[in-house]
Amino acid sequence: MDTAAILTQARSHFQRTLVTCGGQVVGSVAALAPEGDGAAGFHEDLNYGEVFLRDNVPVMMYLLLSGQGTVVRHFLNTCLALQQTDGPNRGLFPTSFLEKDGKLVADYGQRAIGRVCSPDASLWFPILAQQYVQHTGDRTWANQTSVQTGLQRLLDLVMAPRFRAAPILEVPDGAFMIDRPLDVWGAPLEIQVLLYGALRATADLWQGADSVKQQVLDRAAALKTYLQTYYWISTPIIQDWRRRGTEQYGDPVANPFNLYPETIPDWLQTWLGTDGGYLIGNLRSGRPDFRFFSLGNALALCFDLLDPVQQTALLQLICRNQATLVGQMPLRIAHPPLTGEAWRLLTGSDPKNRPGCYHNGGHWPCLVWFLAAGVMRSHPNLSPDLSHQMQQLLHTGYQQMLHQLPQQAWAEYFDGPTGGWVGQQSRDYQTWTVVGLLILADLLDSQATPIAKTLLAI
Ligand code: GLC
Repeated sequence: MDTAAILTQARSHFQRTLVTCGGQVVGSVAALAPEGDGAAGFHEDLNYGEVFLRDNVPVMMYLLLSGQGTVVRHFLNTCLALQQTDGPNRGLFPTSFLEKDGKLVADYGQRAIGRVCSPDASLWFPILAQQYVQHTGDRTWANQTSVQTGLQRLLDLVMAPRFRAAPILEVPDGAFMIDRPLDVWGAPLEIQVLLYGALRATADLWQGADSVKQQVLDRAAALKTYLQTYYWISTPIIQDWRRRGTEQYGDPVANPFNLYPETIPDWLQTWLGTDGGYLIGNLRSGRPDFRFFSLGNALALCFDLLDPVQQTALLQLICRNQATLVGQMPLRIAHPPLTGEAWRLLTGSDPKNRPGCYHNGGHWPCLVWFLAAGVMRSHPNLSPDLSHQMQQLLHTGYQQMLHQLPQQAWAEYFDGPTGGWVGQQSRDYQTWTVVGLLILADLLDSQATPIAKTLLAI
């Protein structure tokens, strides 16, 4: 099959993922069964037949790219109608929903495996809303009371003071795309980056008091500084970390989180090289998580959370570690995997998350378009040589996807160490795999539309 035929096939699979309620499209299911169309074709096992908010991020971006803003607006209105309006989680958006007997039934975590709640879905809402407004010009929609009230409720949830002064948002384990235990509790990178995007997007859409808008922008600015100061690492920074003292009290100190040099893992030296840098996975008192998480770092590029020197260092790191991150199928979701005793204790011996599998170092094709969008956003700050290298990496990934995905039934994920095998428990015909390829095709097209060039730019 040539590229055009593969993309046509992808578009036709995508059409089958769309779900309607009351005659209108409300989003896409997470995965299709290979046989049959419509409701009969959806997986009835697990919850892949539901409309997940996070899985619908690429769906909505693709619809915006294809000029179908009305569908996006209806999806946003549907999410708003399902936002919790009372109780301790007032302001929370659902992880997913499904259509049953003409009604929408939402899951806020009460039906999910392990009863995990997904704050990322709530943080995506204002980002998607801002993208809709930016790409359609429909500010009238955002100015409606229903939208402004929804934003107010979300702000009440995320701006409320917690038990620390830092501008971060603390969450339980598995609170985002990685929705099973993987030692990602506390302040995982992806949630902090999404919080930054959500705050910026909300400020952009806000019609209420200027003082509230200023508080939101101040929190976003403080979060950006915090992430750039404490999550960002490079070889010079690590060298400095290894020689500073510990057990320091008071303010200011060189080692505010009391991190011991023994926490610095051996693999970091070759991973960083001399010119690489990245945002680490998590920062907790005494226990930094040095794992590299692809989506949090790619989104940091998309939302312009890094300075130009950091953008360059991050992309140099990605090029340097192409064999690990891309391998036979882009992109590895997290590196390195938890192994041995750490896997046993921190995942609860989860067989789905064995080392190199699924969230624990598996390879997810749905992640590549985020990186491509991030590269586009950073483009003006990159040297021609680095831009060229990144284009080559993205094109290599794109070719691997074109070659493998139709043969492997548009698998959800691939297992390590290099992503050469279809994920052991991978779903077939996973929507964000299909639609991720379609967006990537648009982003890599030299004739890319102005919309494609600013996708996810907040
Ligand atoms: C899995 C993934 C999650 C995704 C869901 C539906 O649970 O871990 O991120 O949203 O499947 O595709």
